[in-house]
Amino acid sequence: MNRRHLLGLGALGLLGAWVARPVDHGRPYDDYFATLNQLLKQQGGGVPQLVVDMQRLDANADLLAQRLGSKLPLRLVAKSLASDGLLEYLAQRLGTGRFMAFHQPQLNQLARLFADADLLLGKPLPVSAALAFYQQLGNATTFDPAQQVTWLIDSPQRLQQYAELAVALKQPLQIALEIDLGLARGGFASPQALGEALQQLQTSQAPLTVRGLMGYDAQVAHSPPWIGRDRAFADSNARYRAFLATARQFTALWPTQPLLNGAGSLTYALHARGDTPLNEVSVGSALLMPSEFDSDLLSAHSPALWIATPVLKVQSGELPYLSRLQSALQTWDRNRQQAYYLYGGRWPAEPVAPAGLSYDNLYGRSANQERVNGSRQTALAVDDWVFLRPQLSEGVLDDFASLRLLRNNRLVGRWLPENMG
Ligand SMILES: Cc1ncc(COP(=O)(O)O)c(C=O)c1O
Repeated sequence: MNRRHLLGLGALGLLGAWVARPVDHGRPYDDYFATLNQLLKQQGGGVPQLVVDMQRLDANADLLAQRLGSKLPLRLVAKSLASDGLLEYLAQRLGTGRFMAFHQPQLNQLARLFADADLLLGKPLPVSAALAFYQQLGNATTFDPAQQVTWLIDSPQRLQQYAELAVALKQPLQIALEIDLGLARGGFASPQALGEALQQLQTSQAPLTVRGLMGYDAQVAHSPPWIGRDRAFADSNARYRAFLATARQFTALWPTQPLLNGAGSLTYALHARGDTPLNEVSVGSALLMPSEFDSDLLSAHSPALWIATPVLKVQSGELPYLSRLQSALQTWDRNRQQAYYLYGGRWPAEPVAPAGLSYDNLYGRSANQERVNGSRQTALAVDDWVFLRPQLSEGVLDDFASLRLLRNNRLVGRWLPENMG
């Protein structure tokens, strides 16, 4: 091959690289985020915060209520909505006093907040955590745990421990039995195992009142293509009904109106279609719609929660030790033209506004001053705000000093996240 051929190949390679270069994803804010940016520049107080879009929250809540109708009562999943104000608002709008709790301090907080609540544990707590709940409950409240708390039991050992706790406390405890519908996260693995536990309870006559079953079916939403969601859902429901058939045989223990809890944001829409063994569903995340919940079943729900954080610095996108490569890199990928340093970072969230911002894989992440890159089209200046969409709401809400409430293009209030998570 002669030199001319080589030069020709080189030019072709360059042309190929040029054609294959990433498109410029950068855009200025759309109207929605331009307004929010202006509001936060005036009233944001300059620190990262969460913004709840109340109109979208209302629309998500109304859609949920409309799908469930009167046939499937709702239990709010407190870990995914861990703010007193948010839970109070949703409990009122959705007309429910049922909550699912996952953490002992959260359970105490719910008991303080909602005197009439019906609290169901979403996971089995160590019996010492259950004891701590009673110790921290205090006498001042009208909350009656014997009627209003249902502990979750996943094994014969835990059944025994809670029976001993009830004796020690000199009060009956309500329990629900966790059943494994195929999620493989524990609980009673088969109707037979459930039957043996109920037999143990019947023989021991421990002061435990059985309320019903809890079976979470998130695996249905992630079923592999060779099974398919419809079959996975039918299988999961068939398992639920088999557990129920066994439980019903224990007439001395089994209540006439059992609690049959299940589902979550990922599967509530399937249960709402009609054929379900459940008589209540638990939902939390679908009301705020963090990105991990994007799915065809939830496509009518809208993201209602943003992390908003100020831009501290606007830089030319330089990378340490790579300054020689910088201009080639930026010419090839215009989305590297600018580097914006944010107030805080490393949240489980993706930048969404202005469009075309992304984390820098070469530079890395920071919890102190996160770097996001974008083209000049993103047009951000120091003191503008960047908006990120959380991947999940669980754990994120308690990371922030306040939740700002947005309605009709105005910031209309603030909720303080209590330490519920
Ligand atoms: C037992 C149980 N029920 C329901 C849910 C659903 O919560 P969300 O609606 O926030 O996904 C979960 C989530 O982890 C869960 O563990």
